[in-house]
Order: sequence, then structure tokens, then C-alpha cells
Amino acid sequence: MEARSFSLFLLTSIHCLQCISGLDFLSPGSSLSVERSSDVLYSPDGTFTCGLYQVSPNSSVFSIWFSNSSGKTVVWSANPLHPVYTWGSKLTLSPDGSMVLEDFNIGQVVWTNNVSSSTAAQQARLLNSGNLVVEGKGGIILWESFASPTDTLLPGQSITATMKLTSANKLLVPGHYSFHFDEEYLLSLFGHDKDLSFNYWPNPSKNIWDKLRLPFNSSTGGALDSLGHFLASDNATFTAADWGPGILRRLTLDFDGNLRLYSLDKVEGTWSVTWMAFPQLCKVRGLCGRNGICVYTPVPACVCAPGYEFVDPSDRSKGCSLKTSMSCDEQKVRFVKLPHTDFLGYDLGPRRFVSLNKCKTICLHDCNCVGFAYWQGIGDCYPKSALLGGVTLANLGSTGTMYIKIPKGIPVSMSSIPPSQPLGPKYIPNCTAANKYFMDERKTGQNDSKYVYLYGFTSAIFLAELVFIILGCFILKREGRQLRGVWPAEVGYEMITNHFRRYTYTELVTATRRFQDELGMGASGIVYKGVLKDKREVAVKKLADVNQGEEEFQHELNVIGRIYHMHLVRVWGFCSDGPHRILVSEFVKNGSLDKMLFCAGSLQVLLEWKQRFTIALGVAK
Ligand SMILES: *[C@@H]1O[C@H](CO)[C@@H](O)[C@H](O)[C@H]1NC(C)=O
Ligand SMILES: *[C@@H]1O[C@H](CO)[C@@H](O)[C@H](O)[C@H]1NC(C)=O
Ligand SMILES: *[C@@H]1O[C@H](CO)[C@@H](O)[C@H](O)[C@H]1NC(C)=O
Ligand SMILES: *[C@@H]1O[C@H](CO)[C@@H](O)[C@H](O)[C@H]1NC(C)=O
Ligand SMILES: *[C@@H]1O[C@H](CO)[C@@H](O)[C@H](O)[C@H]1NC(C)=O
Ligand SMILES: *[C@@H]1O[C@H](CO)[C@@H](O)[C@H](O)[C@H]1NC(C)=O
Repeated sequence: MEARSFSLFLLTSIHCLQCISGLDFLSPGSSLSVERSSDVLYSPDGTFTCGLYQVSPNSSVFSIWFSNSSGKTVVWSANPLHPVYTWGSKLTLSPDGSMVLEDFNIGQVVWTNNVSSSTAAQQARLLNSGNLVVEGKGGIILWESFASPTDTLLPGQSITATMKLTSANKLLVPGHYSFHFDEEYLLSLFGHDKDLSFNYWPNPSKNIWDKLRLPFNSSTGGALDSLGHFLASDNATFTAADWGPGILRRLTLDFDGNLRLYSLDKVEGTWSVTWMAFPQLCKVRGLCGRNGICVYTPVPACVCAPGYEFVDPSDRSKGCSLKTSMSCDEQKVRFVKLPHTDFLGYDLGPRRFVSLNKCKTICLHDCNCVGFAYWQGIGDCYPKSALLGGVTLANLGSTGTMYIKIPKGIPVSMSSIPPSQPLGPKYIPNCTAANKYFMDERKTGQNDSKYVYLYGFTSAIFLAELVFIILGCFILKREGRQLRGVWPAEVGYEMITNHFRRYTYTELVTATRRFQDELGMGASGIVYKGVLKDKREVAVKKLADVNQGEEEFQHELNVIGRIYHMHLVRVWGFCSDGPHRILVSEFVKNGSLDKMLFCAGSLQVLLEWKQRFTIALGVAK
């Protein structure tokens, strides 16, 4: 007896030794700090962990993640736009149920769950489902993380009319796509460009019956069940390829705008895709911005419509603009034909049963018309007021052809639009110096995961796709070297996350007139004055002895980009071109602060003690 109870005691103490490496719940008044790795909450079965997740060495985000997936896949985060400093910041549960995240660096509340209950909160805990809850007396839930999803929906978590998923990148920064109920109560995917918003799933060109959806069911809701089946009130439904119990799953709106269902391989800790809204990424419209066209090379890449050029050659997802402005005069424009190309919506009164010439005339007479799609056979004519969501697919499946209106003066070689690989002729991209540094960054999350294509093999379309993929891989392997010059669409998206514009070295040489106006010498390099094309004055800092790699530099930029403070100079862009590492920031007229403080020579401005005190206070902040 004695021995048994002793071993029992030993067992429980071993168990408790393990619990020291994490908490089961958070009681009112206590807090989680960033520095201590043991300051995390575990779900009872250990699947999920909640705590301050380091997105970079110096910044953390309060998040929930899968404990055992490699790379700790985050499923929810509280403050992705305002990460806290990794030292001294903490999350506290107050007796009234409010959770407050304070940044040590700024000394302010970065996030709160907005609960202020009259009844006392008992505890905050992480449930086995991955839901973080704040419980009051009698176990009533005062707040739950499931009510405010970020980019992921977990089994058992429902999406309702007031909720939405927003795509996020690896640093958890929100992107351009969202998943929510639309005004007809249909669960849909939306893309957002600066001034445009568009729906791209379910296929907007289909009518409601073909979509197999039920509109206007006001009991809006949808959830993934534990077996891997999703069903929503509008009959939106899909099933995981590995349907069945006992598998950890997540439904994530990825940064590329594709909605994917993943299953965790518990041994390897890796994720497999078991369903996705778009097996062909180019069909996620809007990847290439306005007037851009997504093509397979066979990696999805962006090109401009003929007669157009990239708005920002360093970020092709920003779209394209006309090389010269277009006149309304019918004599001064012409049409360029783009076979197998389609653009999304923005139709100016579509017509049926008209001839190609008639359709051309309609677009010619309408100054707002920028081109039209014509479907031979049926005679469908779609004059367009904007070119958005362009895609060229050799196997588009019908005879739709796009005609783009351009000024007569612009010469267009037919080869300027590459036919989509691999079925079209070979496309060898123009590798200019401006784009050759992006190639190795393509390997972002999605490409690493193994795609599970079990579910679709029955359909003929899928067979075609398989051929496409195999051929694609084959060509990619064979022509790997040429393809390095292509800008994959995904890279463009990676760039948006930086909040920065990427400049080429030549652009900065021009802006600074070959680095003539030296403003001063900082610790890390010389600062020059420059004027950008858009007439903005900037300070251009050439970083000396930066022997770090591209990736580290990008990473650091990301951190800098997310620190906004009125006392700090804003960084607008950067250049990472070959050996050059340059920061482009706001130009401050009065120069560096030290000149003011230490009154170097001829300066007339002398600061009062009061001003100096204010400055000191500002710096401290
Ligand atoms: C996570 O992994 C650890 C060690 O690899 C294992 O002991 C634990 O059971 C796993 N937890 C879950 C929930 O799978
Ligand atoms: C993080 O902060 C520490 C202390 O302020 C600093 O020494 C270090 O260089 C920072 N690291 C990065 C990557 O910014
Ligand atoms: C809390 O309330 C503030 C102000 O109303 C709001 O900006 C913030 O988004 C809310 N936070 C949450 C988690 O709902
Ligand atoms: C609901 O969806 C299923 C599967 O997609 C489909 O078979 C069924 O016809 C749909 N129901 C309606 C009313 O559209
Ligand atoms: C509306 O959705 C609910 C599920 O959320 C479902 O039970 C109900 O049958 C739907 N109503 C109609 C009219 O289809
Ligand atoms: C590649 O592009 C540059 C600048 O856009 C141009 O000058 C050059 O002629 C192009 N090369 C080819 C082979 O098209």
C-alpha cells in the first residue's frame, strides 16, 4: 500500500514537473510575459498553445498555435498589426475579465478583449478545440477567441454573418483577401485592391443555381466538423480528401487568396492540403492587379496587357498602367487580340448574338470601354470598363478572346504576352537587372506543403490538370534556369507585406544624382539627399558593411516597417540590389537632432532648456 501511494505521489509530482513548462489556466491578476518560455497556456490535451509568439527577434504577437506542427502554425492572433517588444511586454487577465496586452517599449495598451464584466472572472483557459476563453462564475463564457477569427477556422468553430477571415502572411500581417458572408448571405471570397473590391468565389460569372448555393438564408453560419466536412447555411460545402475522425485540421485563407483545408501529419508535423477552392492559382483573380494578367510559366506569374507597363516594376502585383494616355477619338485607338484570355466583371452592358465587328464598334464608340471579351459561336460580347483579374489559360475551355483597346501609336509585338505554359509555345522572360534578385524568395509556405489530390481524380477535368501539373513540373525542371527570370505572382504578395516600396539601385542613383548631396554620416552608413520621381524629398542611407543576406535584411525591414512612432523617422522603402543595401526614408528638413543639441558651429538655432526637456521626454517614449 505504502509503496503504491508513494509511486502515485511520484507520478503526480513528475506530472507537475511537466506542468511547470506551461500553464493550464490564467487566474485573475496574473499575467503571461514574453521572456519566459514557460509563460504559455496549454490546452488540456496539449494540441494547442497560447502565448506571446515571436514573429521576429524583437517583436511578439499574442497568438494561439498548434504545439506540435513544425513551425508552430498560428491559428489566431490578437495584435498582428501592433506586435509588442519581446522584452518586458505582458498580457494580464484582470478581475473583471478583461485581457490586456501591454507593450513595454511604447508603454501602452496594444490590445484588449474589451470585456468588463460586473461578475468576477474566474480564469482564462485554452480549450482542446483551440478556443481561448475567459470564464466567469459558473463557467459562463465572458469572451472567446473563436468569436474573432483571423485567417483560420478550426473544426467546431463557426463563421457567422459578423465574422470574417482575412488572409495573413508568415509574419501574421493581414493581406488583401477575405472570406465572409456577402449581402445575399452567400459565403464568398473577396479581394481588395486600393479602390476596387471583387468577389472571386464562388465563380461570380455563374448564376445562383449553377453555384449550388441557397441565398438569403438569414440563419447565417458555417463550420467544419470533426470529420473534415464543411457545411454552411447557404449550402456551401466541401469535404477533406482524408475525411474521417482523429485528424487535426484547419481551414485557412492563405496569403495568395486561396482557401485551403489542411490536415496535420502528426509524425512529421507537416501539413497536407486536403481541399482547396482553386487548384489553379491564377484563377484566384486579382493576383496581378489592374491591367495585369496571370499566366503560367508554369509557375503563376504576372505580365501586363499589351500597351501597358508595370506601375511598379519591383512589385508586379500592383498592376499596370497605359504607356501613354488614351484618346477618346476613335481614329486614334486600335484593338489588340489576346486569345484564351479572360478578365473579371466590369461589363458595360453585355450583349448576345452580335458579330465581332458590332462588338468592336460598341467598344469603340464608348470612351469608357477599355476592351471587350468576345465569345465566338454564341456571339457574346462583353465591353469592359476596367481590366481586372486577367488570366491567360491555354485550356480556358472555350473560345473566349479578349480585345484590348490601346492608343494607335504604341507598337505591340505579339510576343509581349506569353501564352500560358506548358501548352503554349515556350516563353523566355526578359531578365533585366531590376528583377533578378527576387527569384530565390519564391519558396514561401504554400509551395512546401504536399498537395493531396485524392479527391478529384474521377473527373476528366482533373485528368487534364494532372497532365498539366506533370508537364509543368517537367518543364520547370528542364528549364529551371530560364525560369529564374520570371516574377512569380506570390513574390509580389510577399513584397506587399513589407509596407515598403522596393527601389532598384539605378532608381536611387538617379534620385540622388549619383549620391552627390551628402547629408551626414551615421553610425551605419552615409546619408544622402534625394528626390524621387514623384518629387518627394527623401533621405537615402547607404548601409556600410552589411554582410547579411537578403533574407535577414528583409526580415529586419519588416520589423522596422511595423514600428510607427511620431518621434521616429518613417522608412518608405529600400533597395537590396546585389551588394547594395539602402534605406529610403522621410527627409527631415532640419537635419539630425544632434546638430540642434550640440549646436555645431554656425547654427543659429539654440534650444531652450524647456525644449530640450521635451525632446528628452520624446526620446524616452
Ligand atoms: C507533441 O509531441 C511530443 C513530443 O514529440 C509528444 O510527447 C506529445 O504527445 C505530442 N502532443 C500531441 C498533442 O500530439
Ligand atoms: C533587438 O533589440 C536588442 C536590444 O534593444 C538589439 O540589441 C538588437 O540588435 C535587436 N535585434 C534586431 C534584430 O533588431
Ligand atoms: C475594443 O474596442 C476598441 C474601441 O472600441 C476597438 O478599436 C477594438 O477593436 C476592440 N477590440 C476587440 C478585440 O474587439
Ligand atoms: C447543395 O450542395 C450539394 C453539393 O454541392 C448539391 O448536390 C445540392 O444540389 C445543393 N443543393 C441545392 C439546393 O443547391
Ligand atoms: C438555413 O440554414 C440552416 C442551417 O444553418 C438550415 O438548417 C436551414 O434548413 C436553412 N434554411 C433553408 C430554407 O434552406
Ligand atoms: C529587356 O528589357 C529591356 C528593358 O525593358 C530592353 O531594353 C531589352 O531590349 C529587353 N530585351 C529583350 C531580349 O527583349
